[in-house]
Amino acid sequence: MENKLVTAVLVGAGNRADVYASVSLRRPDRLKIVGLVDPDGVRLRLMREKYAVPEENCFSDVSELVKRGKLADAVINGTMDSLHVPTSIPVLEAGYDLLVEKPFAVNETEMEALARTANEHGSRVVVGHVLRYTDFYRAVKKLVSDGEIGRIISVEMCEHVNYHHMAVSYVRGKWRSEKLCLAPMLLAKSCHDIDIMLWMMSETEPVSVASFGSDFQFGKDRKPEGAGSRCMADCPYVDDCIFSAKANYLAAVRWSQYVWKCLEGKGPLTDERKAESLSTDNPYGRCVWDFERDGNVDHQTVILNFKNGAVGSFTMTGGSAKSERNIHLVGTKGEIKGTFEDSRFVLRKMAPTTRAGYEETEYTTSEGGDKIGARGGHGNGDENLVLDFLDYINGGEPSTSCAVLADSVKSHRTVFAAGRALKTGTVVPISASEDAK
Ligand SMILES: NC(=O)c1ccc[n+]([C@@H]2O[C@H](COP(=O)([O-])OP(=O)(O)OC[C@H]3O[C@@H](n4cnc5c(N)ncnc54)[C@H](O)[C@@H]3O)[C@@H](O)[C@H]2O)c1
Repeated sequence: MENKLVTAVLVGAGNRADVYASVSLRRPDRLKIVGLVDPDGVRLRLMREKYAVPEENCFSDVSELVKRGKLADAVINGTMDSLHVPTSIPVLEAGYDLLVEKPFAVNETEMEALARTANEHGSRVVVGHVLRYTDFYRAVKKLVSDGEIGRIISVEMCEHVNYHHMAVSYVRGKWRSEKLCLAPMLLAKSCHDIDIMLWMMSETEPVSVASFGSDFQFGKDRKPEGAGSRCMADCPYVDDCIFSAKANYLAAVRWSQYVWKCLEGKGPLTDERKAESLSTDNPYGRCVWDFERDGNVDHQTVILNFKNGAVGSFTMTGGSAKSERNIHLVGTKGEIKGTFEDSRFVLRKMAPTTRAGYEETEYTTSEGGDKIGARGGHGNGDENLVLDFLDYINGGEPSTSCAVLADSVKSHRTVFAAGRALKTGTVVPISASEDAK
């Protein structure tokens, strides 16, 4: 396989596209950004300057890009969830290979439409399942693939989304309402985790799912008595509330990519301007209990039955003190148990002649969690994914980590079925249509 320079166009030049595109600054021998599509003029200008993209290759709509013929080898699609399919189909038809963010589709119909187009055009499509590229999950997957724990009988996983992440993304932010973004929290946040579970269980496939969950903490009827409508304008709890905009976005510097987006390109970000924005028209300054919840959940559990008789369970809880992903795989020869954020897991193997009945080996991996590693976010998973995508479109075979479209279709289909199971209170079969296999 050749390591030739790959050229790419960013469609949706927002936060995630910037993260992926930044690989071109560290590895100019591997990736060059040569075009941009974004209807936001400020964003287009900032990204044009950052990546030195010629003005004639900057567009406000994907239809203008494809009219120009093929400008590059690949498209990196970093639009929001519900725009992935409408903006990806035209570029696949124009002959581009594609790296598309997760969730790559928000329902089964559009998921199958994208899969059909990719099949028809022989496109290479990779989905942004960055966890597969972290040292932690790669090391666990290797032990599973090497047969260290035998055949997996059960897998238990959880994702705890801490309270300030919950508030910024799933209460105040872009994923606050299924009506608004078309992606319920399980799809928007935890399609990564369901993908990891199916990746670990790749010798089999899920056949049915049950799911439970509710909105436990938010909604107008839970608003504390006397609370105001904006933390910094009229709320007596501004200095006590764990969700206070003052505490989370001014005292601590968190989630700038979301909270200060409305001030982007409008001059220096001073504390005075931030405070003014949160007190007046910035959505992240609003009381968390005032948002319409539209049937959203803040926690959900998913129980999966696999074709070979194994079972899996996954619980997403929004509102924990610490963000944490745990995994516990129990197999016929041993087990693996660990916490991603701690960069640590143990392998236990049955050992009947020992006092404990098992032998335990501890593994420490580098740069786990959502920490920024030396080469970027998700413990370097972001950069590893991009480099792997470049290898793949240069003619390489998909690596073990590579979330090719067929893999991601499987995990998305499972998440869609879990959503139906939650809404109907029934056990829902998971079956594939011919197009999306
Ligand atoms: N892989 C991960 O771990 C991970 C983490 C965070 C977010 N995401 C996903 O990444 C995606 C992008 O999230 P983000 O926070 O970067 O969003 P963002 O809002 O920062 O970026 C989206 C960009 O798309 C542009 N846009 C809007 N309509 C468009 C259109 N018709 N054509 C082209 N561009 C258009 C917007 O102007 C914006 O600049 C989401 O799907 C999100 O779920 C993935």
